[in-house]
Amino acid sequence: MYKICLIPGDGIGREVVPAAKRVLEASGLNFEFSYAEAGWETFQKTGKSVPESTLEAVKAADAVLAGAFTSPSKKVEGFQGAIRYMRRNLDLFANLRPAKSRAIPGTFKDVDMLMVRENTQGLYVEQERRYGDLAIAEAVITKAASERIAKVALEEARKRRKKLAVFHKANVLPLTTGLFLETVLTVAKDYPDVETTDVIVDAAAMKLVREPESFDVMVTTNLFGDILSDLIAGLVGGLGLAPSANIGPKHAIFEPVHGSAPDIAGKGIANPTATILTAAMMLDYLGERELAASLDKAVNKVLSTGPLTADLGGKATTEEFTDAVIAALARVDS
Ligand code: NAI
Ligand code: MG
Repeated sequence: MYKICLIPGDGIGREVVPAAKRVLEASGLNFEFSYAEAGWETFQKTGKSVPESTLEAVKAADAVLAGAFTSPSKKVEGFQGAIRYMRRNLDLFANLRPAKSRAIPGTFKDVDMLMVRENTQGLYVEQERRYGDLAIAEAVITKAASERIAKVALEEARKRRKKLAVFHKANVLPLTTGLFLETVLTVAKDYPDVETTDVIVDAAAMKLVREPESFDVMVTTNLFGDILSDLIAGLVGGLGLAPSANIGPKHAIFEPVHGSAPDIAGKGIANPTATILTAAMMLDYLGERELAASLDKAVNKVLSTGPLTADLGGKATTEEFTDAVIAALARVDS
């Protein structure tokens, strides 16, 4: 039996996490679910976006499935972005964000890539200062953190097509992203079987759109990884389909790439695919590889036959789509 902590969070997180939970319950495995709170609404209620009890619940679980957490686009005294806080506080240093072609008209066909994003440093240390009309943000890069994310990326590349691209901006920021690049290239020397190349991040953005099939594993700093993981999601059908994992030495939080989607929250029309595929990544992490693969197949089946949610041009509700995945999963297994 696996102890799974659910943190639905804000907005559509409260719709897609229950959907993925239903799929897990229908899978035949035994789970013990618990719930914890975090996010913007939690902050408004308690003055903290991540209460101590939530950190304890994460630590007590075998794995965590989270939804999405709203962050306001202006400074709010005392507020810390919930997911970024948990990533740093629980040392979830590796953010794995795969993008794979699915049977969706109008999307790229041969994409199968994995973004490995450093998850604790860079500009996302959230150290900003403002002096009237002057504002300054700090970016932190360490050799140690760059080394450990490089190892994760190279190990992932070894399991896949043995290609790694390092995205950086060392030509403009040689001390910070330069240290990241230099460290990754040094670690890569221990992996001669992996072909490692470096690409300046703006050129990488263009290349990802023009020849996405040429990429396998990519590794980069926090902000670039955040931006480009939405881009690669866009290549294969959008944020409704993009799963992710935040992995550290002791704990792991699995969450879709998308946010709380205030424009569609509460309508019951969010695409739960990203969170269902996120649950599959969680199963993989727990060692349930066969079930994870079956779940992936079931999702593929529904994406190719329908019903589809509105973001993919269909009319299905979150619940109807989830029912279809559960039915397809039963057929994959038999
Ligand atoms: P978003 O990812 O919430 O939404 C971007 C667009 O994609 C919206 O039009 C939305 O309707 C659509 N979308 C996203 N997920 C979808 C799904 N499952 N099904 C169908 N359509 C979907 O990003 P946005 O609007 O920039 O941010 C909204 C809030 O979410 C902000 O407060 C932001 O800080 C937060 N956010 C949180 C993240 C997290 O918890 N890891 C990640 C990204 C944003
Ligand atoms: Mg993002």
